[in-house]
Amino acid sequence: MDDHRPPQSPRLDHCPEGLPRAAYLDPGWYAREMETIFAREWVMVGRLSSFAPGTMRRALVGTAPVIVARGADGAVSAWHNSCPHRGSELCRGEEEPLGKLIRCPYHAWSFAAADGRLVSTAHAVPTADFDRAAHGLRPVSHRVWNGFLFLNLAADPGGIDADGGLQALDNWPMEELVTGHRWEVDLACNWKAFWENYSECLHCPGIHPELCDMVPIYGKGIMGASEAVGWTPDQPAERSLKPGAESWTLDGAPCGPVFPGLTEAEREAGYTFVTLWPSAYVVAHVDHVRSVRLVPEGPEKTRLVAEWHFPKETLAQPGFDAAQVAAFAKIVMEQDGAASEMNHRGIRSPAFTAARLMPEEYYIHRFHRWVLDRMEGKA
Ligand code: FES
Ligand SMILES: [Fe+2]
Repeated sequence: MDDHRPPQSPRLDHCPEGLPRAAYLDPGWYAREMETIFAREWVMVGRLSSFAPGTMRRALVGTAPVIVARGADGAVSAWHNSCPHRGSELCRGEEEPLGKLIRCPYHAWSFAAADGRLVSTAHAVPTADFDRAAHGLRPVSHRVWNGFLFLNLAADPGGIDADGGLQALDNWPMEELVTGHRWEVDLACNWKAFWENYSECLHCPGIHPELCDMVPIYGKGIMGASEAVGWTPDQPAERSLKPGAESWTLDGAPCGPVFPGLTEAEREAGYTFVTLWPSAYVVAHVDHVRSVRLVPEGPEKTRLVAEWHFPKETLAQPGFDAAQVAAFAKIVMEQDGAASEMNHRGIRSPAFTAARLMPEEYYIHRFHRWVLDRMEGKA
């Protein structure tokens, strides 16, 4: 992230209050977030390659059930998973074969898979006032970025919000990478508690011994040199990973060939983060890439889906074990998950009214502003 920071210290010049307790517990607050954030922002739903041509699959965007359909030619379309007749879900299974028609399993209305047009009302015989054209499938916007599929429920979607920059991964062969490992876990915490934990390193010295060994500056409770008290822009940039380490693997060694297109700075940094509020972040290393999706499942439950992506040649190495490569970040994410749950349990206390943020927690402050701006209709 260092590369994209402004040449001033990001430390806050005051200690602001965080979000109120209700933001983590109240179903009404959660419902407003679903409407103003998850129904309006781009939500990552996985690797495009995980949606096989000739199939349709269910996805969830906030609380909205959606179908992602891929024609035999690979063309992507996305529709609300709700029949225009009486609302039944159209795709019942996790994944179903897709032909030319999408047929509702309830009363067999059929829709053209290519454009969602209502083709048949089956046994129902509508009267002349029925407007067939107004009862097609309801489309959902979709977009692919670096091989990741994003959906957006808004009628007029804006751009993908990528902190770190949409171009940050341009030197990685992102589209060619193949998913080699996946880890999913349900966390008993609000989705924002996980993001908040992601956004600061004050917890690193106490929670992440292995990570602090790999990235020594994390051991000081900060994410980059510019966060230190007394830092000035003329100080030379320091290497992030410990001497001899090149990647986030158990021994710090790359797990396969290093991506040839990276700049010296990208290799030296050892990790490049792109934060895609509200649904995901991507960490690109010199040899592999990890993506982590957050799927809110209620005010106090969040599903985490982490995937590790590799070049084909790396996966083809004799004896290659993707789970072994993933083990390092998995240790860190388990620690983060446990910390987020611990944080959330304490937030349940009536004694907690709101957090008091420290200057190092500037990124949490920015995240809170981002959330509130959307809930208040300012963004
Ligand atoms: S609800 Fe789909 S055909 Fe009736
Ligand atoms: Fe952490």
